[in-house]
Formats: sequence, C-alpha cells, structure tokens
Amino acid sequence: MTLSVGTPPTSPGALARARGFPRIRYMGSKYRLLPHLEQVFDDLGGTTAVDAFSGSGVVSYLLKAQGFQVTTNDFLNFPTVIARASVANSVEMLDPETIDQICGPPADDRDFIQSTFDGLYFTHEDRQFLDSAWSHIDRLSGYKQDLAIAALVLSAARKQPRGVFTFTDSTRYADGRRDLQLPLREHFRERAAAYNSTVFDNGLQNTARRGDVFDVPDTSPDIVYLDPPYAPPRDDNDYIKRYHFLEGLSVYWRGVTIMEDTKTKKLEKRFTPFAYKKTIEDALVRTFEHFKDADSIVLSYSSNAIPDAPRILDLLRTVKSSVDIRSIEHKYHFGTHSAATRREASEHLFIGRNA
Ligand SMILES: C[S@@+](CC[C@H](N)C(=O)[O-])C[C@H]1O[C@@H](n2cnc3c(N)ncnc32)[C@H](O)[C@@H]1O
Repeated sequence: MTLSVGTPPTSPGALARARGFPRIRYMGSKYRLLPHLEQVFDDLGGTTAVDAFSGSGVVSYLLKAQGFQVTTNDFLNFPTVIARASVANSVEMLDPETIDQICGPPADDRDFIQSTFDGLYFTHEDRQFLDSAWSHIDRLSGYKQDLAIAALVLSAARKQPRGVFTFTDSTRYADGRRDLQLPLREHFRERAAAYNSTVFDNGLQNTARRGDVFDVPDTSPDIVYLDPPYAPPRDDNDYIKRYHFLEGLSVYWRGVTIMEDTKTKKLEKRFTPFAYKKTIEDALVRTFEHFKDADSIVLSYSSNAIPDAPRILDLLRTVKSSVDIRSIEHKYHFGTHSAATRREASEHLFIGRNA
C-alpha cells in the first residue's frame, strides 16, 4: 500500500467554484474531500469523466469546473435533478419573474402535500407553499424546471432538522437555527439564487443520467469516479429511509409508492447491492469490470467499511495493473443520534491505472 503526498492543486479557481456549490446534507458527501479530489483529478488529467454515484453532485460539479466533459449518474431522482440543473445545464437560469411566480399565489388548488404530510413535516404554511410551488413548476420545462425542483428540494432539506426524514417530531431537534425558522417560501428564493449561481459553461456537453451504475453507457472515460454507498459494520446506509421526502418531492410523488403503514410515510426501499456485506464484494467487482476500459478508476472508500482496504486493492488490481492509495482523515455524518453523528474514519482514495 502506498501513501502518496501530492503536489498542491494547480487550478484553485475550480476548487473555489466547487466550494460555492449549494450544500445539502447528504450521507457520504465529499465536500470536505474536494481539495484532495481536485488534486487527484488534476494529476490524472484527461478530458472526459464519469461520476457514477453522484449524490449531492458536488464532485461532478468540481470535475466540470476543472474542465472535464462530465457524465453524472445516480439511481435516485433528486440527485439527478440537482446534477441536471448544475452540471448538464450551462446556460439556463431562473429569472426573477419565474421565482416571483413560484412564490406567489397557487396556479391550481392541489393539496397532496398538505393532506398527506399533515402533522408530519413542516408547518401548514410551508406545506401549502410546497403544493403551490409545484403548481407552477409543473408549467416549466427543461433546465428551468430542474433548477426550480433543485431549489425546492434543497429548501426542504435545509428546513428539516438534521436534513433527514427518519422522524416526524421536528421539535426534538429544534435548535433555533435560522434554517429551521425561515419559511420555505423564503428558503426557496435563497436556494434558487444559489443554484442560479452554479450555472456556467465549461465549453463542453455535460450529461446527467439517472440509473443503475451497471447501465452507465460511457464505460471508457479518462476518469471514472466511484463513490458507492458503503456496507458499514453497524448502522445502515439506506438513502431512501433518510431522504424519501426529497425523492418524493422531486417528482411530486408521481410514479412512486408511499408505504402507508410507516409513520414517516416513507417510500419503498431501493435495493442496491453496495449496502450489504454479503453482496458488496461482487458489486464492486462488477463495477470495476464495467469500467475496466476507463484510463483511471478513482474509488472513494471509508476505512470503517467492508471489505477492508487490502481486499479492495486486490479487487481493483484485477482490472488495473497499478493502484495507489491516498488516505485522508475524515469525519462522517451517520444516523440521527448525537452519539452516531460523527464517527472518525479515514477516507481512502484508490487510484487505479494501467502501468
Ligand atoms: C456515497 S453517495 C455519493 C456521494 C457523492 N459522491 C457526494 O459527494 O455527494 C452514494 C450514492 O450512490 C447512489 N447509489 C446507490 N446504489 C446505486 C446504484 N446501484 N446505481 C447508481 N447509484 C447508486 C445513492 O443514491 C447515493 O447517492
């Protein structure tokens, strides 16, 4: 195992831009690793990159800022909408009139959110706003609609204590923070401005797709970045359990099924083989195989995950003859309990190439 210390990043503009990306509390997000990732991508070079598990979208956005032609992928919808709005989109913005309209009186009398989540999440006024906002968003299309949905999703994420929807008693974590007090309508104005400011053109055609990692069609980019969910020794890493409200909100609960017998009104779980000790190894092998023709495979992996680093090294070596590891101290946000929120771990970056 080699621990390499690289040279300072050579494109500080890209890092500064990525640091300004609107922050969503997302399990396993790599905001803190941006300087390290920037350096690794810079060292590897090339022109095309795939971010196969895009999540919050911040790494895809960094790659775009570094001048790569980026393809993002995630099997959930709201990460895909965020990536479409901020990575694939290079020109469209939400104009002030559209923002005013979304924040103004409703365009119809829909009340799905008000009635379905009454007493569970947010105030009555906030839920009314979410229905009303969607009555306008439904009349938008393309990247403007993506920007508006991304801003609405981020508003709901910021207003929900801890950003997760695993509990319904919001007074439990009420700590007076501005984000928890600001009406969702005001949040929306701020978040829309934040996503507007992510929009820039890197001169290339970037793509955001939604789907399973094994169906990503661009299998031979210069760099593929893999940041799959980890199979933790304890706890779970179910994204839908935590973010079902954001996933539902991103499609106005159309085409998804609420599990009516659950207290939180969560959506059906999305199976992923990366979440389980029994299936993770095979899933990693198949992912490496899928991207074996990429010039470089960069894999983020936590030191407290299963399998361990030596095993990952063996697996990655089946498709790449040279593998380096960089280790970075990192703090994770896990679970909803204070004891479980910050767990120290090292983040390993495996960098596989053909020698
Ligand atoms: C650790 S997170 C990625 C975090 C991201 N790099 C960031 O900085 O925010 C893992 C992501 O993988 C997605 N995912 C899980 N299983 C997947 C699969 N089989 N195919 C595609 N995406 C998957 C999850 O929805 C989640 O967004």
